[in-house]
Amino acid sequence: MKLWPYPRVCAHRGGGTLAPENTLAAMRTGARLGHRMVEFDAKLSADDIVFLLHDDTVDRTTNGHGAAARLSYAEMSALDAGRWRGAEYAGERMPTLAQIAAYCREAGLAANVEIKPCPRREIETGRVVAAEAAQLWAGAMPPPLLSSFSFEALEVARDAAPDLPRGLLFEHVPGDWRERCRDLGCVSLHASHRHLDEALVARIKAAGLYILAYTVNDLERARCLAHWGVDTICTDRIDLIGPHALGD
Ligand code: G3P
Ligand code: MG
Repeated sequence: MKLWPYPRVCAHRGGGTLAPENTLAAMRTGARLGHRMVEFDAKLSADDIVFLLHDDTVDRTTNGHGAAARLSYAEMSALDAGRWRGAEYAGERMPTLAQIAAYCREAGLAANVEIKPCPRREIETGRVVAAEAAQLWAGAMPPPLLSSFSFEALEVARDAAPDLPRGLLFEHVPGDWRERCRDLGCVSLHASHRHLDEALVARIKAAGLYILAYTVNDLERARCLAHWGVDTICTDRIDLIGPHALGD
């Protein structure tokens, strides 16, 4: 396996801003535009089903209200997660990780599974998402890339699925990034492109880590980051930054 077997461009939340985030419609939109990698956010429902949602609550992206951690998946899947983005998406649901894995495998999409725990559920979310991802993507090439802002979640993910590659997420890269990534056995460091510069990229690469930068919505900026050595950029503008915009 290539050490970094992932495409240079990754569709943020599946379809960027073109479709309701973290839904099957989003993944289909990314695939329709030729993208070969999608990022999405995975968390646990109250009854421990792994499903896709970015926020702690369902308010922004569905017609429901309240904390996701208090809703069962049956309650969650009754909500409309598409209409807020446009009438044509009415009826979209918050999918399970199993549904998304099946679609990604069928469509040949590489996956960046961001473990996004509900507050105070870091440990069980890291464990369950990683174990499920290992099962759902068994034998898949490339394997799903697990990432998280939560050190704790990634630590238990490492123990639950040691063979899956991991990337630690930061907004601002802290001074002790080397130690944190080493302790987690990360292959990559994921960071907001806003706080990256050429020298920092060079230091991270020299430490043997690959870099994924989010959320890059400007083509010139994407080219600049790639020139510095960033391996993959994650974008909302999947229409503007095409799958081959940074080469193959
Ligand atoms: O994984 C990259 C990016 O998705 C992290 O930020 O808030 O969009 O999940 P966020
Ligand atoms: Mg994310």
